[in-house]
Amino acid sequence: MPTKLRAAITGVHGWVPETKLTNSDLEKIVDTNDEWIVSRTGIKDRRILRTPNWATSDMCAEAVKGLLEKTGVKPGEIDMIIVATVTGDMVFPDTANTVCDKIGAKNAFGYDINAACSGFLFALATGAQFVQNETYKKVIVVGADMMSSIIDYQDRNTCIIFGDGAGAVLLEAKKDGTGIIDFVLRGDGSGRELLNMKAGGSLHPATAETVANREHYAWQDGKRVYVQAVKGMTSACEEVIRRNKMTIEDVQWVVPHQANMRIITSVAEHLHFPMEKVMLNIEKYGNTTAATLPLCLWEYEKKLSKGDNIILTAFGGGFTWGALYLKWAY
Ligand code: UT7
Repeated sequence: MPTKLRAAITGVHGWVPETKLTNSDLEKIVDTNDEWIVSRTGIKDRRILRTPNWATSDMCAEAVKGLLEKTGVKPGEIDMIIVATVTGDMVFPDTANTVCDKIGAKNAFGYDINAACSGFLFALATGAQFVQNETYKKVIVVGADMMSSIIDYQDRNTCIIFGDGAGAVLLEAKKDGTGIIDFVLRGDGSGRELLNMKAGGSLHPATAETVANREHYAWQDGKRVYVQAVKGMTSACEEVIRRNKMTIEDVQWVVPHQANMRIITSVAEHLHFPMEKVMLNIEKYGNTTAATLPLCLWEYEKKLSKGDNIILTAFGGGFTWGALYLKWAY
């Protein structure tokens, strides 16, 4: 029986800056300590982009160049690049087009998706449509954020959490039962009050006052976001598992957004899923926003087998959240 054509991840690569920002570095900047950060978030290090004149597009370009090398794809063969980010190089143009230019993807077009920490999930679901509908053959989806460019290093509620990085996947058609099978994507715009960057958009364009008020930084009501993150990721995973007639025992890996180790543990407990099968990179990279999921896939790539049932899940600003079910293709 012919199997349905699906978009599958056929390669993954990541890139993080060399410079580390450790908990002891943060102790010197804000009133915090290693014990509090590790016990409340699970984070020890983050990577911070310090290369002069480098921005999010440069991290994307490094991740994509590595991906092309690994998969043997030439820049000219790429049809489309989608970049999930909230820290694009400029308000406009989009970062995806800059990435196409920097890697020499002359035949590609691209655009950005802004869904904060759920960005990679939303972008992956979007990119998959173009492949599954046979509109394009080679689509690259990147999750990347230079959070250090919008973090207030005087605010201990946020500066201890976030880091910089980029991860990229190649999507191609497969007819062997592997690939992206289903996803649940959700949003609740009222969440904008609890997690946002207030100024710099059309609501509050940059003025001397917005700068003085420190409104060009990411801000969150951490406790309230935390509660919604656990609920949102758990319910999205349950829904995608249920409607694909699976049980949690059928799932080989869960790849959760890396915002707080306690959120991840709580979601795994609610799902009755063993932590050994939960992909983690929060300890060394912190919350890299749109990059957490592809960076996890990149680092766990060697442990994956063809046919593994994998669930990616995320929650972030918007609010946005969801879960995506795929069968690993290689
Ligand atoms: O990725 C996008 C989505 N974002 C998230 O999912 C983040 C969700 N939220 C969180 O991860 C957590 O809420 C935080 C890590 C931001 C904060 O952890 P918490 O356990 O919710 O702490 P809290 O804000 O309730 O604060 C507990 C205590 C407070 O002291 P008192 O009032 O009990 O004396 C805070 O002032 O810890 C204090 N505190 C700190 N102490 C040392 C808050 N931040 C720090 C800090 N270092 N960095």
